[in-house]
Amino acid sequence: MVRDIPVYGDLILSPMAGFSDKPYRLLCHEYGSAMSYTEFVSADGLLHANDRTRKMLAFDPAERPMVFQIFGRDEEVLEEAVRRIEPLGPDIIDINMGCSARKVAYRGSGAGLLKDPPKIGRIFARLTRALSIPVTGKIRLGWDDDSLNYLDVAKILEDNGASLIAVHGRTKEQAYKGQANWDAIAEIKQAVGVPVIGNGDVRTAADIERIKQYTGCDGVMIGRAAIGNPWIFQRKDFDQVTLAEKSELIYRHLDLMLDFYGEERGLILFRKHVVKYVRGLSHIGKVKQQLITCTRPEEFVALMNAYEAEAAERAVVSPSTVGSLSPQWRDQPV
Ligand SMILES: Cc1cc2nc3c(=O)[nH]c(=O)nc-3n(C[C@H](O)[C@H](O)[C@H](O)COP(=O)(O)O)c2cc1C
Repeated sequence: MVRDIPVYGDLILSPMAGFSDKPYRLLCHEYGSAMSYTEFVSADGLLHANDRTRKMLAFDPAERPMVFQIFGRDEEVLEEAVRRIEPLGPDIIDINMGCSARKVAYRGSGAGLLKDPPKIGRIFARLTRALSIPVTGKIRLGWDDDSLNYLDVAKILEDNGASLIAVHGRTKEQAYKGQANWDAIAEIKQAVGVPVIGNGDVRTAADIERIKQYTGCDGVMIGRAAIGNPWIFQRKDFDQVTLAEKSELIYRHLDLMLDFYGEERGLILFRKHVVKYVRGLSHIGKVKQQLITCTRPEEFVALMNAYEAEAAERAVVSPSTVGSLSPQWRDQPV
């Protein structure tokens, strides 16, 4: 439960700019992601909402519970922004306190807020008063190793009405380097009464159980390992997924992208997913190049069909080699 919002499941797709858009969130939700976070949306941008910003907040009712993630540094702007978007029907508003990008963090928003815990308190007091829906926060451990203030921040969040805390176990300075510190996540879980979501370096199904046991966290957020692998939400690793399953998903994802963004933009934005879906497939090199440069959906589908047909043929011609192919090929009908 996030305050009064039931959440069915313990795995959640991380908010990821450029990836956790409506099409991909919907897919991940179908595969088991229990909550849908938008990519982070600028509070300032919301006050001058353009089409692009509005599109980032589009969601399918099937995704619920739906979380709109906002970033900003100005208390008044944040309040005005959330007041404006509450009527769009999210279940939860989340405040980003983890973005390490220079143009965000050095301007005092994202992880920049971690430098000013009292301000975090004021923001949460204000937003929880202004909204009827729960407000949650996603944090890092601090700005750098000399200012690890995660316990302070977590308590301040709880004391000022936050209904859930998601923790990426790194500092702003670390960005994505080194290893996520799961001990710190465990400490936060011990220190607060609200649900804690553990995040950072969960790459396999086994990691999911490891982080849960290690930290006691209530849920697990998965980011990079979920790109190209929504099966992780079924606790299935990428090398257990068959080619048939991959191609079925590729077609479905492509459809969703074309519907949402239109043919041209949809296909272009789909490319970054395609490279992840096809990684490790045998004889994919040249086809991959074509898949990520073609400009018409029909071309894309024809390329995929041809690749699948050739793969099936290879398996028939040299069945003795099937066992030596990458694991996802072994389950293919020959
Ligand atoms: C491409 C990319 C975009 C991201 N965008 C966001 C974002 O919009 N909001 C956010 O809170 N975190 C964002 N993150 C951080 C992830 O949510 C997550 O905390 C981080 O990747 C660590 O989890 P992982 O090890 O499972 O990837 C982003 C990460 C990546 C790789």
